[in-house]
Amino acid sequence: MSRELELLLFLLALRASGEVVAGSAEAAAAAAAWPGLQVGFYHAKCPVAEDVVLGEMRMILEEDPTLAPSLLRMHYHDCFVQGCDGSIMLRSRSGKGERDATPNRSMRGYDAINRIKARLETVCSLTVSCADIIAMAARDAVYLSKGPWYDVETGRRDGDVSVAEYAENDLAPPDSNIVDVKTFFSVKSLNAKDIAVLFGCHSIGTSHCGAFQKRLYNFTGRMDQDPSLDAGYAAKLKKLCPPGHGHDHDHDGHGGAGGAAKVPMDPGSGFTFDLSYYRHVLATGGLFQSDGSLRDDPVTRGYVEKLANASSSSEYFADFAAAMVKMGRTDVLTGDLGAVRPTCDSLVD
Ligand code: HEM
Repeated sequence: MSRELELLLFLLALRASGEVVAGSAEAAAAAAAWPGLQVGFYHAKCPVAEDVVLGEMRMILEEDPTLAPSLLRMHYHDCFVQGCDGSIMLRSRSGKGERDATPNRSMRGYDAINRIKARLETVCSLTVSCADIIAMAARDAVYLSKGPWYDVETGRRDGDVSVAEYAENDLAPPDSNIVDVKTFFSVKSLNAKDIAVLFGCHSIGTSHCGAFQKRLYNFTGRMDQDPSLDAGYAAKLKKLCPPGHGHDHDHDGHGGAGGAAKVPMDPGSGFTFDLSYYRHVLATGGLFQSDGSLRDDPVTRGYVEKLANASSSSEYFADFAAAMVKMGRTDVLTGDLGAVRPTCDSLVD
């Protein structure tokens, strides 16, 4: 039986017993635990687990606040590649692991996860999985960036396979249009609303110029600029990202001087998890074509317009919590599947 069918039957049973009394099917699905996952999975086995993660995250971000967005991004990159199984942390001597894939070359925060894991091993040895540490760290990164606190489900176990090619195939590139984005996300059971909500993660953090420079200097191969990008915003980006090597093909900013500089993804509000990302996308077309693509679908555009004009972030925060919980269920290993590794960054070859 598929997981979706199992969940549906579970929800119908709850509905019949009167325990789910109100709300949309979406909210009810988010409220019900996923098979094998639960809020507070470590309460009995390691009651301090979530406190330890939050405590370490406070110290880590005090030392380097730029790691908050990186650790949020890590959860997305972990979940989309063979499920949320901690495999992004594994290292490959031959340079063929997930870490080595193009979209992960700019990933940061591996040492932070190792540090949290080492601390947890001293209090509850071989108990808390790396996949769950990444999920908790992402939640705490959002919370410590003035975003919402939400209950994070735990109970994931770690995988031991890490293949660069899977990451290349499963993570959408920043020059994706809305049809591409919807395809990449629907494979992970995430719909148009989830896309519009999760893209709000780009409210915090930075990008290397190389990820979007093509939009500025060589959009169609004729040294032109992306016409969907606001001219004033493009001019500012050009100052921050002078033409450099590798800007037309290296979508992760490792091509050379021009491509290696960094810019905030949500200018003026790059450390605060808020609604300004939506105002930015609506007004300028956003930093990446994939951000701007939210304007090209009725559902995603409607959501962007609603949030760009919202007077409070409460609706967004509730939607964000539900979408993160949903993403955090992607192809998880639970129960007897996978393992709890003693270290997160083991070698696969
Ligand atoms: C089509 C989907 C997406 C694309 C194409 C995309 C692309 C990118 C790119 C190119 C960067 C800049 C990396 C760099 O140069 O350092 C970035 C950063 C980031 N992304 Fe995404 N992203 C997507 C979806 C998401 C989602 C769903 C989340 C969260 C759930 C997310 C969270 C972040 C964060 C927080 C950063 C900032 C990282 C930092 O400052 O270190 N992204 N993304």
